[in-house]
Amino acid sequence: MAFRYYNAERIRERMPEYKGTDEELQDSIDNISLLYNSAMKNLETKLEILSDDFDKMHSYMPIHHIQSRLKTFDSILNKAVRYGIEDPVNNLDVVMREVLDIAGIRVVCNYEEDIRTMYDLLLKQEDVDMIRMKDYCDDPKESGYRSLHLVVSVPVYLVNRKAVVPVEVQFRSVAMDAWASLEHELRYKHRGELSQEIVDELKECAEILNDVDERLSRIRHEVLTDESEYSDRI
Ligand code: GTP
Ligand code: MG
Repeated sequence: MAFRYYNAERIRERMPEYKGTDEELQDSIDNISLLYNSAMKNLETKLEILSDDFDKMHSYMPIHHIQSRLKTFDSILNKAVRYGIEDPVNNLDVVMREVLDIAGIRVVCNYEEDIRTMYDLLLKQEDVDMIRMKDYCDDPKESGYRSLHLVVSVPVYLVNRKAVVPVEVQFRSVAMDAWASLEHELRYKHRGELSQEIVDELKECAEILNDVDERLSRIRHEVLTDESEYSDRI
């Protein structure tokens, strides 16, 4: 059964400028949804397999948890407008080339050093290609936000063709994720209008958590001088 995350008849009311038929619009939406959802599943499975195999070898899982999300059709079009793409609903091929976070996976690792491990293991795979990287771990954003952002492409094999689809991957430690989630919620609740004092304090919290990340990593190495001993100790 075709899976639909949008209904063209309803969307049509908001997008009267679409030049094709309702069926063509629904078909485009279904196509985007199938491609990006499949790419996201492929990548999520790859990451889970790597974490499981790492656990088999070292009795330790580098990934704490994974979250994934597909942008809604509305929010894809809103972003396309922000990017200055003209008449996006009639130029979906341009939208798919420019908007690289239609599918997004957040990989929350236990320790900061696990981010590098997972990154290396993932990029080693011959069907995973790097499109873009922004390292906000080494170079945090002005807000204090830290995370490793990649856009990678993965193949999706369909009945009659193979598509290569981009997925945004955000690698974070548990501490980075805790900060980002709370800061996002605070910002969202106040519609982005936080006072300078609060913004400064949040940035200071991010720096403290960065320090905690480094300390926890040092403690880990002191306790586990030999990773193979890990399973005997827990
Ligand atoms: P946009 O996706 O349009 O924002 O552009 P971009 O892809 O260039 O942006 P960026 O590399 O900053 O990544 C955006 C994503 O990173 C957001 O959707 C958030 O998930 C996350 N992010 C970036 N900066 C912050 C921040 O200051 N606080 C929080 N909580 N999350 C952030
Ligand atoms: Mg983004």
